[in-house]
This record gives sequence, structure tokens and C-alpha cells, in this order.
Amino acid sequence: MKLLLALCAIAQSFQPALAADSVDTCDAFCQGLAQTAVTFERSQFADPDRTFYKVPSNFSRNLAPGTILAVEHATDLSNYLVPSSLSMSRIIYTSTDLNGTIQPTSAYILWPYMKPARSGFSAVAWAHGTSGNFAPCAPSNYRTLQYEFMVPFALAMQGIAVIAPDYVGLGIGSLPDGTPIPHQYIASPAQANDLANAVIAARSAFPESLAANGPFVVAGHSQGGAVSWAYAERQAKHPVPGYKGTLAIAPGLRSITWLKAALAQLAAGALSPSYAVLVSIQNKLIEGVTAVYPAYNYSGLTAASYDVWKNGVEKVQGCLATDTYVQSALLQNGNLTLDELARLDWPEDPIVQEFTNRTNIGGRKFAGPLLVLVGEIDSTIPSELIEEVVDETCKLSEKSYDNEELHFMSFGQMNHFPLIQASQHVWMDWIKDRLSSGPKNDRKLAKPKCKKTVVPGFRTNSTVQSITPNWLVAAADPSKEWEYSF
Ligand SMILES: *[C@@H]1O[C@H](CO)[C@@H](O)[C@H](O)[C@H]1NC(C)=O
Ligand SMILES: *[C@@H]1O[C@H](CO)[C@@H](O)[C@H](O)[C@H]1NC(C)=O
Ligand SMILES: *[C@@H]1O[C@H](CO)[C@@H](O)[C@H](O)[C@H]1NC(C)=O
Ligand SMILES: *[C@@H]1O[C@H](CO)[C@@H](O)[C@H](O)[C@H]1NC(C)=O
Ligand SMILES: *[C@@H]1O[C@H](CO)[C@@H](O)[C@H](O)[C@H]1NC(C)=O
Ligand SMILES: *[C@@H]1O[C@H](CO)[C@@H](O)[C@H](O)[C@H]1NC(C)=O
Repeated sequence: MKLLLALCAIAQSFQPALAADSVDTCDAFCQGLAQTAVTFERSQFADPDRTFYKVPSNFSRNLAPGTILAVEHATDLSNYLVPSSLSMSRIIYTSTDLNGTIQPTSAYILWPYMKPARSGFSAVAWAHGTSGNFAPCAPSNYRTLQYEFMVPFALAMQGIAVIAPDYVGLGIGSLPDGTPIPHQYIASPAQANDLANAVIAARSAFPESLAANGPFVVAGHSQGGAVSWAYAERQAKHPVPGYKGTLAIAPGLRSITWLKAALAQLAAGALSPSYAVLVSIQNKLIEGVTAVYPAYNYSGLTAASYDVWKNGVEKVQGCLATDTYVQSALLQNGNLTLDELARLDWPEDPIVQEFTNRTNIGGRKFAGPLLVLVGEIDSTIPSELIEEVVDETCKLSEKSYDNEELHFMSFGQMNHFPLIQASQHVWMDWIKDRLSSGPKNDRKLAKPKCKKTVVPGFRTNSTVQSITPNWLVAAADPSKEWEYSF
């Protein structure tokens, strides 16, 4: 995650395009960068061989979504960095992609220590942020489950079960006959299906611990923030029983639409730092469009960036850290320029427009309550862009809006990951309040249905300002358990 820091330097390192006729941008130097980074990534996987992530023989495209295919009751946590006292299960189940095709996919369930006496656990369905585009990038195989103490550990230690899909294409990457299952990055309604089907499948696998209509809240950050809001829209059409509300932290609701503003700045030679990360994720966005529309075939990438993506990142099946490291190093060394990352007009392509139409989130009916948290100085997803979508959603007529609550909170001087920490007690209290609430119709709406709050923060000038959380949960060698006492 520290590698993301390098992105801060991208905006400052902007240089005019150099002539780049050669498509051999991912030469030995570039491939060496990818190898270095992916070696680090693999050291952070609980099982580098990913033995769990195979399609069970009883999978078929005719199964209903949310069907269980395999259950690992008790995951061996000896190779994970999960706080002792918590336990974990993994499941393989069916979900539907953006086109409605049934796919096999995986999820983890993190179990608290204390089980409630009578009923099952309350749960949070957790939608993770960008981990990468390829099969190894499955948080259920990350030693720290990717968001570690920021979210899943914190929730489970408060007695809440965490049901967390990897998303289709992450974990299981192909069918037994070799047919690829690409991850439809940023196609949030597809990942919202994965979230809903993970809840349904987990309940059927563990009926003694998760009641069929037990209370659950949906939550997500970044890519997953958009997934959680997409879930709230899905819930308005296809309700899953027990739903109590949605938390969307720094949601990437309309990345390709927002990118247009960043590309206009870039074309004018004036890319602002808060839009630099949007520019840097174009390869991942184009991978996502191609995953849904194979005929699109990466046509938004330039020859140089296509070469880096295919022969650098994809060749080693690199995840976010590898992609970030390779791209920022090539930019810093002048091998690649910012305006070579993609064609400046790629968002205007009709296929991309159709993808955008099908995947943009917000501005329509949802099942609330919806709590949206943003960081005032988020340099990955600018908070003013999220606020525009909130305003658009709040302007919907009362009847299409259906009496739902939307609360938007902005946290002063907080960036993309620090926001999660700054707001922790707000969202933790909100989730607990929602999980213990009665049937929705009994609630009195004492407050305005749409509400905005600005939290200035205390002594924010003295906090560490970074995109990242400014810590790294690191593994000790098994023979050096003493290091954990540090
Ligand atoms: C990229 O930069 C590195 C370091 O300056 C250099 O060794 C390499 O040849 C460059 N590759 C290309 C394709 O420009
Ligand atoms: C597939 O097999 C697993 C393990 O035997 C079982 O738990 C699951 O219910 C089966 N699913 C279907 C759809 O047959
Ligand atoms: C998904 O549907 C679109 C629109 O109908 C189609 O163009 C695309 O090829 C489909 N994708 C796959 C993987 O079949
Ligand atoms: C996609 O483009 C690449 C590079 O131009 C080409 O080699 C490949 O055959 C194309 N694939 C499809 C499915 O059109
Ligand atoms: C996308 O949606 C807009 C607005 O609804 C519409 O005008 C446009 O034709 C759509 N484009 C595509 C390619 O579906
Ligand atoms: C924070 O620092 C800025 C710039 O140095 C200063 O203008 C501002 O007054 C400071 N704010 C607080 C609350 O100390």
C-alpha cells in the first residue's frame, strides 16, 4: 500500500510527451520491476499456490445465483495475520456477472469470538476496494484480508460477522475447460450481485450461525464503496431479507465519467494532484470494460501502455501494488508519459459509453438508509465529485426516492484511507445502531431525509497526511514469533 505514495509524485512529475514509436515499452527493465513487486505480493498471500480457488465439479451455468459449491468450515489461519480469537471460513458459490451469466466465485466469513446466545450473528457484507484485476488478487487469500484492522478485524472484534466476497474473477480466474473468468472491474452492479449472493450462500452454508433473515448492513470503500451503493440500488429492486442499510466510504461511483475531467486537465497540461490517481487507473478501467465487452479489446490503451499492461502486469498476474509500482517507476524514469497511459478520447467510444451507462451509480432509487463518508482532501476520488452525485440523488422526487434517508459526511483534511480511521467510531456506532434497529416501518424519521455534515477534525495539521493508512501489518517468520511482541 505504501507504493500508492508514489502516485502523489505523478502529478508533479508531469512532462510533455516524448516521442515513443517503439511498442517495446515493457522491456527487461519493466519486466524486472513487475517481478520485484509481484515477489512482494506473493509473500503477502496466505497460500501462494491458491489451492482453494478451484471450480468444484458440481458447478453448472444452470444453477441459481447464491448456490453453495464448496465450504471450508474452518480456514487454517496459521499463515494469515488475523487476530487470535477470530476464526474464518471460506466458501465457493455462484453469482451473476454484469450480463447475467452465472459464474463461480469465492468469499470469506470472519467469525467473532462470542456467539449470541439465542440467535445467529449480526453481519456486515463487506465490499473491498481495488485489489487488482487478476485471479491472485483475492482478499480472502491475503494474509491480512486486505483491509485488516481498518475494517474486517475491527468489525469482528466488535462481535459482528463479516461476509466478504472476493468478486467474480478474483480468486477463481477460469473454468476447468480454460474459459477465462475476467474480473469486471468497476462494473459495480456485478460486484453488488457478488455481495448479495455471498450473503445468501453464507446463510445456507452456516444456518446455525447466520439466520435466514438475520440483520446485516452493507459496507464498502473506494471500488467497494461504489459496490455498496450499487447494492442499495439492487436492494430496492431485489430485496434480501434482513437488510438494515448501506455505508459507502469514498465511493468510486462514476470513475470513467469523472476521468473525462482529469483527461481535459491533462490535455491542457494542468493535471491537478487530486485527479492524478484517476489518470493512473485507466489501465484497470480499460481491463474492466474489456472484461464485459471482449470485442472492445483494450482499444483505449496506447501501444505503450498495452505493452506494459500485458507484458508487465498481466504476465505476472500482478495486483494493485505491482501495477502501481511498475507504472510509477516507468513514469518517473521517463519510459512512459502520463498522456501515453491511454488515448485521451477513449471515454467517448460508444462501447465505453454503453459500459458507463450500465455501471454508473447514484441518481436513482435505493434502499436506505445510506451513509456516505468522504475525505475532504481525497486524492484518489475527489470528494466534490461524490458530493455532486449525492446532490443529484437527493433531488430525486419524493416518490421515486421512497422516503429513504441519505446522510453525507465530509471529514476535514482526510485522504482516501485515513478517512476510514477518522470516521471509525461514527460508522461503527451507525452499523451497531442499524443492526439492532427494529423493522423499518416502525422508525420515526426525526431528521431531514437528506442531510450533510462537515467534521472539521481535531489538530488535523499534526496528523500524517497520506493517501495510505500510514501503517503496514507485516508477517514475522514462523521461527520468529517473538517479533510479534515488538
Ligand atoms: C526505461 O528506463 C530504464 C532506466 O532508465 C532504461 O534502462 C530502459 O532501457 C528504458 N526502457 C525503455 C523501453 O525506454
Ligand atoms: C456441491 O458440492 C458441495 C460439497 O459436496 C456441496 O456442499 C454443495 O451443496 C454442492 N452444490 C451443488 C449445487 O450440488
Ligand atoms: C455482454 O453483453 C454485451 C451487450 O449485449 C455484449 O456486447 C458482450 O459481448 C457481452 N459479454 C460477454 C462476455 O458475453
Ligand atoms: C486484441 O488485440 C490484440 C492486439 O492488437 C490482438 O493480437 C488480438 O488478436 C485481439 N483480440 C481479439 C479478441 O480481438
Ligand atoms: C447513454 O445514456 C445516455 C443518457 O441516457 C444516452 O443519451 C446515450 O445514448 C447512451 N449511450 C449508449 C451508448 O448507450
Ligand atoms: C493549519 O495550517 C495552515 C497552514 O499552515 C494554517 O493556515 C491553519 O491556520 C492551520 N490550522 C489550524 C487549525 O491550526
